Amino acid sequence: MAEFASIHYNAPEFSDRHISVVFFDENAHCLSQVSDVDPKIASEHAKSLGLSTKNHVVIVTSSSPSIIYLYAMMPKSGSLHDYHKLGASIYRVMKQCDFDAVQFFWPSSASDAEFASSFGAIIKGFYGSNYSFSQYKKSVETLRTYRINHITDNESKLTALFADVQAVVSGEMLTKDLMHEPPNILTPKAFAQRITSMESLGLQIEVMDEKKLLEQRMHALLSVGQGSTNPSQLVTVKWCGRSDDCSDPIALVGKGVCFDSGGINIKLQGLVDMKYDMGGAASVIGAMHAIAKLKLPVNVIAVVALTENMPGGRSYRPSDIIQSRAGKSIEVLNTDAEGRLILADAIDYVREFQPKAIIDLATLTGAIIVGLGHEYAGLFSNDEKLSGCIQASSKATGDKLWPMPLDPAYDVFMDSPIADVSNLSSQLGKAGSITAAQFLQRFVGDLPWAHIDIAGTAWIPQHNGVHPKGPTGYGVSLLVDVVSNYQ
Ligand code: BES
Ligand code: MN
Ligand code: ZN
Repeated sequence: MAEFASIHYNAPEFSDRHISVVFFDENAHCLSQVSDVDPKIASEHAKSLGLSTKNHVVIVTSSSPSIIYLYAMMPKSGSLHDYHKLGASIYRVMKQCDFDAVQFFWPSSASDAEFASSFGAIIKGFYGSNYSFSQYKKSVETLRTYRINHITDNESKLTALFADVQAVVSGEMLTKDLMHEPPNILTPKAFAQRITSMESLGLQIEVMDEKKLLEQRMHALLSVGQGSTNPSQLVTVKWCGRSDDCSDPIALVGKGVCFDSGGINIKLQGLVDMKYDMGGAASVIGAMHAIAKLKLPVNVIAVVALTENMPGGRSYRPSDIIQSRAGKSIEVLNTDAEGRLILADAIDYVREFQPKAIIDLATLTGAIIVGLGHEYAGLFSNDEKLSGCIQASSKATGDKLWPMPLDPAYDVFMDSPIADVSNLSSQLGKAGSITAAQFLQRFVGDLPWAHIDIAGTAWIPQHNGVHPKGPTGYGVSLLVDVVSNYQ
């Protein structure tokens, strides 16, 4: 994770060697006011250089070799992804041209909120690109420390907006760092220690080891982890930004399987991907990091269940019946359906804080990738207000998700003949993401709850214009927006 060397606003004589970013609309009309650039000439120039709705950035040399202009076209009625992509493209040009200073000439007509938020999205794509994970390479990629100058006639507004973006981006980078870490390094204990180091941000953190988990009767979590030599942990993180007693919090819950081999039902494919099965926990922790940086006036309690699902002589078995913390017995028919088990205990635990809503994030099912690919996460909820709020936040942040059904007709597939619930649907291979959600719902009670299956969106198999192959930081923006807006 990298910091920019410095970020300025309207700094005079900022740098004698820099890139100047000038914005155009989709008709190549120049939107920026640059003293030494005539907008009409710039428009003609931009067109002649091939700036178009297909080609969003062009590099323009000037009479001075120390100044390059970058003509950037605002996406036409762009989706947030397009704005993020534009910011990422600007970053790439800066990197490729080997400049370490950049000046943005923001359009002055930024009166309406929509236009201003598009600037935020461009800067998010730009700031978020200043990232690499290379600490295990002999030649560690040292990221240049860039200097940035924002030229704007609305300094106070953009300063506040971009500072918020920066806080969210730093949360996303933490999420990405955690997901990149290999499972021999980021064991449940190491993950818990990384979380504890966030206390300095004003977060209250409590780590439960296996002894405590036993006292708490969290046998579902303990069972999943019992085949590993790395003990399970459950970490509670509180941000009491509205009141010291942290009353009426929003609860966030994250699946943190640091490696999911499948256990005794060992996976036959995709094993190397399963270090990112802690993506839900990583997103929740990244969001808490951002929430603390932003000092949001809200109460939030996050719980992450950290464990490793391994085969071995002590592993839990298919056909075991385990007692969950909630008092419901669970028949384990497949040890690879472990996420729902650890979430059952974590959800039951967080209920004790009497939250006004519970939102869990989990890389829960391969089936959600079959259904939605790597574009949209699956949203399941028992509450229309909560679901509506989450969908609005999804639109506002670009963390895409799509509503999926819950229905008693699916729920019966999770019945077990000899326990209170089975961890495997009796309709194998059908509606796997929904039946997993039905399992979770049995542990929620009547609290407003949403489950977001991020198996496809947390990690992408190829560059999508904004993020390279790997972790996306999905969910951090979304959760920050939801906790800011949910009443
Ligand atoms: N961690 C996996 C889900 C997953 C798959 C995440 C691919 C990311 C990419 C989860 O624990 C799992 O194994 N789910 C099983 C459930 C099945 C046994 C009912 C699955 O999806 O196959
Ligand atoms: Mn699994
Ligand atoms: Zn898993």
